[in-house]
Amino acid sequence: GKVAVLMGGNSAEREVSLKSGHAVLNALIAQQIDAFAFDPAERPITDLLSLGVDRAFIVLHGRGGEDGAMQGALQSLNVPYTGSAVLGCALAMDKVRTKQIWQSLHLPVAPSIVIRVGSAQWDAAQILKQLGDKVIVKPALEGSSIGMSVASEAGELDAAIREALRYQSDVLVERWINGKEYTVALLNDEALPVIRLQTPHQFYDFSAKYQANDTQYHCPAGLSDEDEEYLRHLAVLAFSAIDGRGWGRIDAMRDDEGQWFLLEANAVPGMTEKSLVPMAAKQYGLSFEQLVWNILAQTLE
Ligand code: DAL
Ligand code: MG
Repeated sequence: GKVAVLMGGNSAEREVSLKSGHAVLNALIAQQIDAFAFDPAERPITDLLSLGVDRAFIVLHGRGGEDGAMQGALQSLNVPYTGSAVLGCALAMDKVRTKQIWQSLHLPVAPSIVIRVGSAQWDAAQILKQLGDKVIVKPALEGSSIGMSVASEAGELDAAIREALRYQSDVLVERWINGKEYTVALLNDEALPVIRLQTPHQFYDFSAKYQANDTQYHCPAGLSDEDEEYLRHLAVLAFSAIDGRGWGRIDAMRDDEGQWFLLEANAVPGMTEKSLVPMAAKQYGLSFEQLVWNILAQTLE
């Protein structure tokens, strides 16, 4: 059958998606699969029907591609697609709702407060008093650390919230966690080996993710067998709690006291050369091509 690799789109992560998408496309073509690039920013999604597409490989990141909208459109067109369905994507895209669900299931998350989209006022000093001396501010509906900043005094927090609100999304203000950052890739309901990320930047921000050459990736992550198992199990629970399916990635931290915190879920994680899911797959024994094939095979039932 014919596979459309959906990439690009209109979100702030368009460029990342194009990179991920071309890597996936090349891996499919290398396996003699009849695949081509389709950018929904350039043509209507209904063109998939006239093009005779049998299935869609979604490599769109961010809003419009990773948030359930595209998944709903494909479902309506009867085009099978990779990864999570409408609900899982909509929840994974929304850091606020993801946290609410995890919290309700007693999965560990850092204390936080929410500033609703469109808010004009908040009390930065009060927020700092409530959450601790240092916080991280995140637009709820972005990826790749876009719009995020760290603040440790009221003026800084005001600016950080204003910046995050520019993304027209609720804003999450979270207690800063002093510790180490980890990520867990999920494939077919199984957690792949944990990766630890280490950056000299304040946090694993956009440039540490895609531009810097001073980001270190540890896989194996250097955890004890017990801790590795714990985090992988936690990631499976966290992903299924938001109806994640097929493949994805759960990001987490462990503070200096050894306490774990779930950060967020990604329904369509990066597939660039520097990306984490391909790295974990490799450690597990799957080449990039095999990984891509495994994800596509999920649409074959
Ligand atoms: N949002 C980016 C693509 C990631 O999670 O890898
Ligand atoms: Mg994300």
